[in-house]
Amino acid sequence: MKPNKLYKFIVTMILISIVALIGCEGDQGPAGPAGDDGSSISEYTYVGDKGEACSHCHASTVEQVALTGHSQAYDIDPEDLENPYCVQCHTTGWDRPVSYGSDDWMTATNPDVNGFDDYFGVEGDEAAERRAALEGVQCESCHGPMGPDFNNHRPDLNFATMGTHDPENIVADDIISDCYPCHKTQFEGPSGDFTGGYATSAHASVAGGDVDAFNQEHYAHIGSCQGCHTSEGFIAANDPAFTDYNFSNNVNFIGCVTCHDPHMGDGGEGNPAQLRTVGNVVLSYTFPYEPDDPEAPTMSGYGSGQLCANCHKGRRDNANVAGQIANGYAYFGPHHSSQTDMYIGYGSYEIDGQTYDRSHTHQNAEHACVNCHMVRETELHGSVQEVAFHNFRPEIGTNCTGCHEEGFSDTDVDAFQGTIEDLMDSLATRFGFTDYHDMEENWDSTDEAVTVWEREAAYAMFFIIGDGSLGVHNPDYATDLLNAAISHYDDND
Ligand code: HEC
Ligand code: HEC
Ligand code: HEC
Ligand code: HEC
Ligand code: HEC
Ligand code: HEC
Ligand code: HEC
Ligand code: HEC
Ligand code: HEC
Repeated sequence: MKPNKLYKFIVTMILISIVALIGCEGDQGPAGPAGDDGSSISEYTYVGDKGEACSHCHASTVEQVALTGHSQAYDIDPEDLENPYCVQCHTTGWDRPVSYGSDDWMTATNPDVNGFDDYFGVEGDEAAERRAALEGVQCESCHGPMGPDFNNHRPDLNFATMGTHDPENIVADDIISDCYPCHKTQFEGPSGDFTGGYATSAHASVAGGDVDAFNQEHYAHIGSCQGCHTSEGFIAANDPAFTDYNFSNNVNFIGCVTCHDPHMGDGGEGNPAQLRTVGNVVLSYTFPYEPDDPEAPTMSGYGSGQLCANCHKGRRDNANVAGQIANGYAYFGPHHSSQTDMYIGYGSYEIDGQTYDRSHTHQNAEHACVNCHMVRETELHGSVQEVAFHNFRPEIGTNCTGCHEEGFSDTDVDAFQGTIEDLMDSLATRFGFTDYHDMEENWDSTDEAVTVWEREAAYAMFFIIGDGSLGVHNPDYATDLLNAAISHYDDND
């Protein structure tokens, strides 16, 4: 060590010792209260103040976050602010879980001694000041305590929601998200048994819920697949701060921070749920338009439902589909996820001379996908409320009332889906298969014996299989596609 460095080192050590012994009046104010081990904490660990100190370098983020509900989370009934049970999730740094009506939290192990819980019910101006600094859900609720020297900050960044888990037997320890302590409802569902929540959704259950296996799966590594199949890929595709971020090939299931950008305030722009993107989505297969044509088929105006369209759309563009029809293709069809295409009534290969009805009353649902797959009225905290179910499964009945009559049930849907499956079987048997499942598995569009008109007729089948709703998303378009395919087959056969 050079002499002047040694000198600095000694001075620093002396300062640190003084600080440790007597505390210090730093930028963040006077010493905090004593920790579990009796030592005095020199300065406040949580900076607080709604990120004021971060503005210097992250101004636009701080402004955006101020427009989210998190920033207003302390604006609840003043009486409830006396109740530690309520306050625990509506403030920053509360780290001793409170059971309803119990004081046990006060004697529980206290991981840090500078969060809101450490000033709750404490008399004096200092405690009042600290409480004021830690109201609401702030930057440090997610990025971890960053004081006192936040200029050398090492914030937590967490893109994961669940670690490796057994989708059939979810336990709380499987969840590694920063959101869980406060957002139990979205993980567990309103009934608290996980069934209505994210934890049992398909988004969380890929590769059997095994994160390592998920990382091994080819689409977790390939850039062109990550944008829709991983949390990190979708963030990188939508947030310029992460375009060149090094995620070191360690990627996670689609989870809370995939769909929600905690910095995305409403700001009167109609995105009250902090959704990462709700912009227009142009289909990949836009024929007869070019993708940049203003008339090109586009999903727009569906509020929160716009989010889903970014991933749940066909992936083949005009040139690719033309190639599939002309020469066949090993992965014939639009790729697994043609839901948006089906819903707006475009995006399948359409046969010259046939007519297709694109519009259906289902397109009147205000938030499209979200109306049928997420939001429904249910009892929560003792009152009936609109809740977004995060298992993303449509609840036939509850999600459909308002338009369909009371009593509308699985039986009605099965009956309709049966008519679509009959048409699919009818097409498949023309091709010589026993049924449409047989055709899905065994038809080879690249076989030299297969003709162009056969591929034209077959495309609709793969489009409907890719959609997965067996026609429910757009009963009219689905029916027309199959009828057109069947008559095209018969005209040429
Ligand atoms: C003196 C300027 C400055 C201040 C003050 C500051 N930051 Fe930062 N912060 C930066 C810079 C520069 C980066 C980018 C570092 C990088 O790209 O590796 C950054 C990165 C971050 C990141 C991303 C880290 C990552 O791994 O990519 C987070 C989160 C963050 N800051 C949070 C905060 C919070 C919260 C505060 C206030 C408590 C704060 N910062 C205060 C300069 C600052
Ligand atoms: C410290 C507790 C806490 C943490 C941690 C937390 N939230 Fe929240 N969140 C709340 C509270 C309380 C509200 C209700 C705020 C209000 O509207 O007054 C809320 C509201 C929301 C809303 C509704 C929209 C809005 O702006 O009000 C979304 C979406 C949300 N949180 C997502 C998240 C995500 C995603 C995470 C994890 C990255 C997260 N939250 C972490 C407590 C928390
Ligand atoms: C486990 C954490 C947790 C506890 C405990 C909790 N809340 Fe909340 N609270 C939240 C979250 C998260 C939200 C927003 C998202 C949602 O609705 O699920 C919220 C939303 C609210 C809202 C609606 C905010 C708005 O602007 O619409 C009010 C009011 C509220 N809570 C009051 C209370 C009261 C009163 C208690 C105590 C009886 C309480 N909370 C206990 C986490 C909690
Ligand atoms: C509810 C949780 C939550 C809150 C509150 C929150 N962040 Fe973040 N932050 C995240 C997550 C998750 C990421 C990574 C994904 C992303 O950017 O959306 C992130 C990323 C960042 C980044 C790096 C990317 C970028 O946009 O430059 C910065 C800087 C940052 N946060 C600063 C802040 C500041 C400052 C505040 C408070 C004003 C804040 N965050 C509040 C969860 C949160
Ligand atoms: C435009 C978004 C998007 C892109 C890009 C994308 N996929 Fe998908 N993919 C989806 C969606 C959404 C689903 C699930 C919906 C469904 O079941 O129809 C899915 C389903 C799948 C499935 C079946 C379900 C599963 O998870 O086991 C496989 C396999 C698959 N994709 C592989 C890939 C591969 C390989 C790539 C890259 C070459 C890729 N995908 C790129 C959106 C995309
Ligand atoms: C696949 C996308 C997606 C994922 C994953 C996701 N959300 Fe949501 N979330 C949404 C959409 C869309 C809405 C808006 C529903 C609406 O319009 O009311 C929403 C609404 C919410 C709300 C508002 C409260 C409500 O009931 O309307 C909260 C809070 C929330 N999400 C938290 C979370 C948390 C916590 C996670 C992680 C377990 C999560 N979300 C995962 C898409 C998602
Ligand atoms: C970031 C891309 C992405 C977004 C955004 C997204 N999904 Fe998904 N979704 C997928 C992928 C990929 C799968 C297949 C399972 C997997 O790999 O996670 C899937 C699976 C599903 C499934 C189950 C499909 C099956 O075959 O079992 C449903 C239902 C679903 N998503 C609905 C929604 C809804 C509703 C929204 C909007 C609120 C949405 N998704 C938003 C990518 C996405
Ligand atoms: C009118 C209500 C409704 C709307 C709107 C809707 N869905 Fe569906 N969706 C359903 C029903 C019903 C099913 C079939 C469920 C079944 O057969 O078990 C389904 C099936 C699915 C599946 C396949 C699930 C599986 O298990 O294979 C996915 C993925 C999906 N929808 C995503 C979306 C997306 C994305 C949107 C928006 C573009 C959307 N849905 C709009 C009702 C709807
Ligand atoms: C925005 C209102 C609206 C919502 C929400 C809605 N539907 Fe529909 N649906 C209709 C109307 C109206 C028709 C029949 C008229 C038509 O064909 O346009 C219909 C037709 C159908 C059909 C075709 C029936 C047939 O025999 O032709 C099925 C199946 C269906 N809906 C299922 C569902 C399911 C399942 C849900 C909930 C997950 C749902 N719908 C939600 C308005 C709605």
